[in-house]
Amino acid sequence: MQLFCSSLLTPPFSQSDFVLLLIPALLLLGLVLQWRHPKHKRLPPGSMGWPYIGETLRLYTENPNSFFSSRQKRYGNIFKTHVLGCPCVMITSPVAARMVLVSRAHLFKPTYPRSKERMIGPEAIFFHQGAYHASLKKLVQAALLPCAIKGSVSEIEQIVLRLLPTWENSSINTLQEMKRFAFDVAMISAFGNNRDFEMEGIKHLYQCLEKGYNSMPLDLPGTPFHKAMKARKLLNETLRGLIAKRRKSDEEESGGLLRVLLGKDQNKPNLQLSDSQIADNIIGVIFAAHDTTASILTWLIKYLHDNADLLEAVTREQEGIRRKLFAENRGLTWDDTRHMPLTSRVIQETLRTASILSFTFREAMEDVEFEGYFIPKGWKVLPLFRSIHHCADFFPHPEKFDPSRFEVPPKPNTFMPFGNGVHSCPGNELAKLEMLILLHHLTIAYRWHVTGDEDGIQYGPFPVPKQGLPITVVPRSKIVS
Ligand code: HEM
Repeated sequence: MQLFCSSLLTPPFSQSDFVLLLIPALLLLGLVLQWRHPKHKRLPPGSMGWPYIGETLRLYTENPNSFFSSRQKRYGNIFKTHVLGCPCVMITSPVAARMVLVSRAHLFKPTYPRSKERMIGPEAIFFHQGAYHASLKKLVQAALLPCAIKGSVSEIEQIVLRLLPTWENSSINTLQEMKRFAFDVAMISAFGNNRDFEMEGIKHLYQCLEKGYNSMPLDLPGTPFHKAMKARKLLNETLRGLIAKRRKSDEEESGGLLRVLLGKDQNKPNLQLSDSQIADNIIGVIFAAHDTTASILTWLIKYLHDNADLLEAVTREQEGIRRKLFAENRGLTWDDTRHMPLTSRVIQETLRTASILSFTFREAMEDVEFEGYFIPKGWKVLPLFRSIHHCADFFPHPEKFDPSRFEVPPKPNTFMPFGNGVHSCPGNELAKLEMLILLHHLTIAYRWHVTGDEDGIQYGPFPVPKQGLPITVVPRSKIVS
């Protein structure tokens, strides 16, 4: 999901603000930021670069991995910089990241560009701290815990079985196809398996919204941002219609997150939410579930393609399960997905290696003394998940794709693909389930070949293989060995 701004290209402020502020800011901020801190307090080491521009140009021109690692080598695990208009403290130690996200989380609030808040909806879970966030989190978790998603296995399987034949014998853009898959699953988790007539409209409006999500936030007629905001308004109206309908309905089968947010689930905490709170959170969860899962699925396909022995071993594991299902004359269940140890380790290693959320943003809510340093109020604080996942002290030979490293649990706080603490990802089990179900069918029935440039990364909202990984998918029955 672009939402998290973990992309190096998604600044935590709007670009129109940038233009408006640039000139006075050049004069003022440079002076203020560099000299306003009490002399006796020690800021973390690092360079703030040029006034206002800071080190942004370097971040854009260097490979982001080397930008972070060269500074880590030079300054240590906590260093300051100034990028994308904000003074920042970058954190690459698991203990310090835990402090920011867990033990001292109350001092660091999540922070997003205003334009993203407007698009998703300001009452969505990501933008909040404290009591409202805690109550919402319970509800969202309730809809996504294993006990709630167990029943979705066959629905997800149906989506996979409809999708796979459309890939046969043609070159597909893996990322785009994974987006289709992840979107359909996100719709089920948001609305249940209902086939309300509003669904097609919601899908269409969401797609319009998404197109403008990463555009320059200029709300003028004709701009992608303006079109996206128009779609957002219509989406809100459609959702409100659906919410009103579901509020009145007694239908037990109306499921998903919407049912929980409406307070219709007797077993779940009852929080009276307004229609706009419900709409913002439904849109938010679809955003959170969509591009993240699609990106990681794309990497999964890439890593298995590049590691033929592993692909064969995963296929054997999945064939074993298929034989069992055949003998028992039944479909795949949640319990079957709990008996895929190698496939699960491949997924863990994919999450580590790809680290699609390279980091997350927090903002110091007050002046904070932290690990012997002073972090001024308002500074951004970025735990760098990618740096931790690629540190040889915790993951020897980090560049190597080696699922066997997960045969023993990773050291505490070193593996955080789904974040940590109060804002950690409630959708992690669903994301893993999607990967397991897709791999089950894909490995048994198909083989795939990358048809584009094999190496290289495309840095967008999330890093993905170049060109979205074009592949040709061939049924195994047609492969002559
Ligand atoms: C592989 C796929 C995914 C990855 C890597 C991922 C990663 C993350 C991370 C790192 C965070 C924490 C962000 C922070 O601390 O600032 C997060 C939050 C969140 N994720 Fe995911 N996510 C994935 C899939 C999903 C799915 C499938 C859903 C829902 C169905 C979802 C819903 C959310 C929500 C609602 C939050 C906000 C939680 C809060 O603020 O309390 N995510 N995700």
